[in-house]
Amino acid sequence: MSATLITRISELVTNEGDLEGFAAITNAALVIEDGVVAWTGPSSRAPAADSFVDAGRRAVLPGFVDSHAHLVFGGERSAEFAARMAGRPYAAGGILTTVKATRAASDAALRANLRRLADEMLSQGTTTFECKSGYGLTVPDEERGLMLAAEITGDTTYLGAHVVPPEFAADVAGYVDLVCGPMLRACAPHARWVDVFCEDGAFGADEAAAILAAGRAAGLSARVHANQLGPGPGVQVAARAGAASADHCTYLTPADVDAIVSTGMVATLLPGAEFSTRHHYPDARRLLDAGATVALATDCNPGSSFTSSMAFCVALGVREMRMSTEEAVWSATVGGARALRRSDVGKLTPGARADLILLEAPSHAYLAYRPGVPLIAAVWRAGELVSGAPLPGGGAN
Ligand code: NIG
Ligand code: FE
Repeated sequence: MSATLITRISELVTNEGDLEGFAAITNAALVIEDGVVAWTGPSSRAPAADSFVDAGRRAVLPGFVDSHAHLVFGGERSAEFAARMAGRPYAAGGILTTVKATRAASDAALRANLRRLADEMLSQGTTTFECKSGYGLTVPDEERGLMLAAEITGDTTYLGAHVVPPEFAADVAGYVDLVCGPMLRACAPHARWVDVFCEDGAFGADEAAAILAAGRAAGLSARVHANQLGPGPGVQVAARAGAASADHCTYLTPADVDAIVSTGMVATLLPGAEFSTRHHYPDARRLLDAGATVALATDCNPGSSFTSSMAFCVALGVREMRMSTEEAVWSATVGGARALRRSDVGKLTPGARADLILLEAPSHAYLAYRPGVPLIAAVWRAGELVSGAPLPGGGAN
C-alpha cells in the first residue's frame, strides 16, 4: 500500500462534517492511500508518505459531482440554438430532433460521442456523473442507451418518459403503458434511477406518478424533471414519489418550496439550461434561505444546455443566482452527491474516494472570479491522476 502526500495546498476544500456547509483548511496537506483520502490537516503536521506532490500554494477541491446529464444522443442542434438567440422560444418538442438522430446513429457513434463528453467532463474536474437515456424512446433504443451509459457510470437513469414519440402522438396512454411495462423491463437491469419530464408538452402529474411508481416497483429510485418551463405539479409528484431530487425548479410556489424542505429532497438547479434558453434563472437564494439542499449540475444535452462545465455552472450560480462562492462549490460537490444519494464522493474527508481537483488558483472563489478561464490544472479519481499535471507549467512531478 503506498501513500501519496499532497502538500502546500493554499486552500483545501474538505466539506468536512455531515451538516450543510462548506468547509476548508488553509495551508493544508492531504494523504491519499488505496484510492481514498487517508488524512487531511495543516501542512505543518503532515505525516510521512511514499511520494509527494507540491501543490505550489494552489487550491484543492473535491471533484465535481454532476448529478444531471443527458449524454447518449446523436446529432447536434446548434441551428436551433442560433435561431433561439435570434428570438425563437425554447419548446420541449426540440427533443424529437435528437430522438430521430439518436435512433439513426450506430452503437459505435453513440459510444464515441458519449466517451468524448465523459472525457471532456473529467478534464474539467467532474469525477462523478449521472447519465440519462431518453433520446431513444423505443424499447431497443432506450435499452441500448442505458447499456452504453452503464459502460461509464453507475448512476444511469431510465428516462423513457422524456417526451411522447411521434408514433404514439395519438395514443399517449399506450406510450405510458410501454414505458411502465416492456420498456421498463428491458431497461431496469441497466439503470439505477427512473426519471420523468413532468411538464406541459411532456407528461402530466398522473402519468408521471404512474411511471415513477412502476420504476420504483422495478427497484429504481426516483428523480424528476420538474417545474422547468412553467409552474406545474412536478415538484409535488417528486415529493410524493420519495424522489432523491427535483431538477430544474425554475417555477416554484411556496408549497413547492415547503415540499422540498420538508421531504429533504434535493433541489437540483441547472443554470446552463436557463443560459442557453435565455430564460430567467431559478431562485437559488429563496431555496437556500428556506433551508433546502441545493445541487448544481450541467444538464449537459444537445438542446437546452450543451455545456459539460461545472465551473461554468458555479460561476452562473454565483453571478446570476446570488449564491455565495462557498454555497455554489458545495452545491456542485456535496449537493450533487446528495442528489445521487452518494456519501463516498463530493468531500475530502478520511474514507472518501480520493477524487480531487487541483486549481490553477489559490482559492475556490476563482471559479466564479475568473469565469471561462481553464483553471483545472490536474484531476485525480480514486487516487489516480487522470487529467492534467500537478506541476505549474504542466511538467511531471
Ligand atoms: O433537461 N427538460 C427536458 N430535457 C432536457 C432538454 C433536452 C433537449 O432539449 O434535448 C432538459 O433541459
Ligand atoms: Fe435534463
